[in-house]
Amino acid sequence: MNNFIFENATKTFFGKGCVKEYLTCLTSHYGENVMLAYGGGSIKKNGIYEEVMESLKKAGKNVIEFSGIMANPTYAKVMEGARLARENKVDLILGVGGGSVMDCCKAVSLAAVYEGDVWTDFWASPGFVDFEPLPLGVIVTVAGTGSEMNGGAVITNEALKIKTGRDYPKCNPQFALMDPTYTYSVPEKQMVSGGFDILSHIMETYFSEPDEDNVSDDISEALMRGVIRDLRAAIQNPRDYTARSNLMWESAMAENRIIKLGKRTDFECHQMEHQLGAYTDCNHGAGLAVLHPVYYRHIYKNGLSKFQRFAVNVWGISPNGKSGEELALAGVEALADFIREIGLPTSLRALGVKESTDLKAIADSCNLVPGSYRQMTHEEILEIFKECY
Ligand code: NZQ
Ligand code: ZN
Repeated sequence: MNNFIFENATKTFFGKGCVKEYLTCLTSHYGENVMLAYGGGSIKKNGIYEEVMESLKKAGKNVIEFSGIMANPTYAKVMEGARLARENKVDLILGVGGGSVMDCCKAVSLAAVYEGDVWTDFWASPGFVDFEPLPLGVIVTVAGTGSEMNGGAVITNEALKIKTGRDYPKCNPQFALMDPTYTYSVPEKQMVSGGFDILSHIMETYFSEPDEDNVSDDISEALMRGVIRDLRAAIQNPRDYTARSNLMWESAMAENRIIKLGKRTDFECHQMEHQLGAYTDCNHGAGLAVLHPVYYRHIYKNGLSKFQRFAVNVWGISPNGKSGEELALAGVEALADFIREIGLPTSLRALGVKESTDLKAIADSCNLVPGSYRQMTHEEILEIFKECY
């Protein structure tokens, strides 16, 4: 394994009833002004809003609402939240939602206290956070990004057409409450896209060096088999507590840095999807589902033994009678079949990308990461986009 340092500052409370049980006590450690941040209103329909408000009232908090955080949160929305936080002298930001709400809140926690331009100094450059952001706690309502246990905040700068994020440990939420029953109301379409995002995070880590036996890859295989099993079960029965709780923890495990320890990691597919998102506002998990099989058909020969291991250990494919290349490719095809099975889109057209979209401009704007089995070029990314269309 490669050398590493591990730290995760987020105190995590997991399980049915955890918000009711712990939120009042948790928030009592902070000042009285709490900014309650959420998305487009799902929390008002499924009862989560009332449960949270009740706990905040019990703690005697003055609640400032910051609502309407959109999927793929924009830098403009971050600045709106930062102004609100400053004007109301907010002591704690409480984000209630999925990755979009959590990421926006992390960005607000920086922008509310930073004197300079956060986009230029943090998102656009490899700057580091050398001050304390506003304290942040999160309540997760959909499994997928794992944002609850990391410092990543993926933000879209609409003017620049860039969607990007970085993992700043100081942006880790101070606490995360994860009640799997909160995810019962997530529509199936969003559930499978979040589920695929989990799988993608694990694959982006697994398909990178080192490839000799290591703890991270062993955990990753167990997690991938789990996500496949739990997604199938949750599609059958959306109120399957076992499946929902596993998905919620698999989501956190994929992105809480543990499986990345000692690994280079790839994340080129994420770079491609983020830029597709910047130009088309597509759904994150669904975009990844379109890209992954095509990307892997491009690179599998460069990581042949790992793709063979993926076929056997994750998909249970027998190596008998297959050449090395056939076995590796069978694993990629099993992944593509699973994407179809759970109803995710398999082409950019099905994702809603219009024919007039300038795929070359998107390809040229993608970051090229060094961790992959074979580094992409902008030309090859354009080929991948065209094959995906
Ligand atoms: O906005 P509301 O009305 O709440 O509805 C949301 C939204 O429409 C709905 N939803 C959430 N919980 C629900 C629910 N509907 C019913 N019942 C519930 N309990 O789900 C929709 C999608 O929510 P969103 O937060 O956008 O989804 P997700 O968690 O997939 O987050 C996506 C964002 O996170 C970024 C993505 O790029 C994208 O911007 N990512 C963040 C990462 C990180 N911080 O580590 C890593 C990821 O790779 C990813 O890039
Ligand atoms: Zn992702």
